[in-house]
Amino acid sequence: MSARYLDAAESVMNVYSFLDSLKAEHEESLAMLSESPVVEQLGKATAGLPALLKIALQNEMEALEIAASWAATAPEPEVKLAFARNAGDEARHYQMLEEKMRAMGVDLSRFRPLDFPSPLLSYLRTLHTSAERVAAVLVTRKAVGARCNVQFLKYLEAVGVREIAALFRQTIIPDGHRYHASGWEILPRVAVSHADQQRARRASLRVLSICEEVRSLAMLRTGAPAVPGC
Ligand SMILES: [Fe+2]
Repeated sequence: MSARYLDAAESVMNVYSFLDSLKAEHEESLAMLSESPVVEQLGKATAGLPALLKIALQNEMEALEIAASWAATAPEPEVKLAFARNAGDEARHYQMLEEKMRAMGVDLSRFRPLDFPSPLLSYLRTLHTSAERVAAVLVTRKAVGARCNVQFLKYLEAVGVREIAALFRQTIIPDGHRYHASGWEILPRVAVSHADQQRARRASLRVLSICEEVRSLAMLRTGAPAVPGC
């Protein structure tokens, strides 16, 4: 067996052991997000539904902003296409949610979702390699976002906003799962070297911790037992 073949086989093994350990770390951090919000507290949000939905709108716009900028700068066609498709879907989520909020009578005339970027967007803007970007957004942010949104959907159902609940159930949550799955498929192709794997892992863990901080703060600020995914 040639040395080159052995090197290639070892590198493939390394990629898969890297993915396995990252998945294990994820499961540990995401486990608590799988718990359902306490049903009795679902109607007790002090901030009110419009404030919670504005968090969701800001999430959509920030997700669109970062995906569009990475679609423009990714060198690999596969990564470029993944972020371009993602940017388009986030724009669609924003538009659909905005329409439903306006129909409910929420005033969005002065709403500028990018005026105060979240700590997550500020961090994502510092990432430069495809390995980090795919790990941070597709693999990690989408996992956290989908789980938070499943909890937020329970809140929406409890307060009886059926149309917006349907938007989360039928579109926003399934899209999040789809991008998350695509992230795990793309990651082994862009995080081949040990250095890239280290960077991807660091970015992923940082996103998990920022999302947890942002989520806790939002729950404290709004009094809601579930907030939209970041
Ligand atoms: Fe979205």
